[in-house]
Amino acid sequence: MISIESLTKTIGEKNILRGITLTVNQGETIGILGPNGAGKSTVLKIIGGLMKPSSGIVTINGLTIKKDPFLVKNKIGFLAHNSYLYDHFSPLENLIFFGKLYQVENCERKAKELIRDVGLTFFMHEPVRSFSRGMVQRLAIARAIIHEPEILILDEPHTGLDQQAVKLLNEVILKMKAKGSTILMVTHDFAQTVETCDRIVIMKQGSVVDDFHVTDRSVDYIYEKYAGQVG
Ligand SMILES: Nc1ncnc2c1ncn2[C@@H]1O[C@H](COP(=O)(O)OP(=O)(O)O)[C@@H](O)[C@H]1O
Ligand SMILES: [Mg+2]
Repeated sequence: MISIESLTKTIGEKNILRGITLTVNQGETIGILGPNGAGKSTVLKIIGGLMKPSSGIVTINGLTIKKDPFLVKNKIGFLAHNSYLYDHFSPLENLIFFGKLYQVENCERKAKELIRDVGLTFFMHEPVRSFSRGMVQRLAIARAIIHEPEILILDEPHTGLDQQAVKLLNEVILKMKAKGSTILMVTHDFAQTVETCDRIVIMKQGSVVDDFHVTDRSVDYIYEKYAGQVG
C-alpha cells in the first residue's frame, strides 16, 4: 500500500504540489490524468525517491524512503521520460547490467525473456543508440520491470509507441497486475486507462481534483469527468 499524506512541493515561489493526500491499495492500477504542469511527474518522482517533498509523508507498506531507501527502491520499478539506458550497450547488455544491480536471479535468462516480451529479440545485440524512440521505450519498459517490482510507476509510457507496442505495454501492465503489483500511471491516452486502470485520479494545479473507480469501462465517462474538472 502506498500512503501519501499532505504532500507539498515548493520550488522558489512556485507551489508545485499543494497538499496531495492519496491512498493506493495493493494491487490497484491507477491512472493519473491532468494537464501539463499539474504536478503529476513531481508526485511520481517523490514516490520513487527521485525528489524530496517540501512537506508531507509517503510510506510504502509502512516504510519510508528516508529510513529505508534500499528496501523501498527495490520494490519500485520506474519508467520515466528519461530511459536510463546506456546508448552504447545492446538491449541484452543493458538488461543484464540493471538486473545485476537489483541482484536478479538467472539474470540473463530473465533479460532474454523480457526482450522477447517487448518484441526486440531481433535487435538484442544492436547498440541502443541506433534505436527509434519507440524501440527505446520498449526496452525502457523491460528495464523498469526486470526485478519484478511490487510497485510500478509509469510516466507517460504510451508516448512514442506504435499501435503494436501500445498493445504490448498493456499486456505487460496486465501481467504485472495479475502478479499483484500496484501500478501508478500518468498518461494522456484516456483509451488506454480504460484498458488497464481500476481507478482514475485527476490532478490540476498541484491538487487532486477528482478520484473515482473505473466501473463501466467507458472512455466517454472519463472524458466527461475530465472536462468537468479541467475543461
Ligand atoms: N526542478 C524544477 N524547478 C522549477 N520548476 C519545476 C521543476 N520541476 C517541475 N517544475 C514545475 O512544476 C510544475 C509541475 O511539473 P510536473 O510535475 O512535471 O507536471 P506534469 O507532469 O503534470 O506535466 C511545472 O509548472 C513545472 O514547470
Ligand atoms: Mg509529466
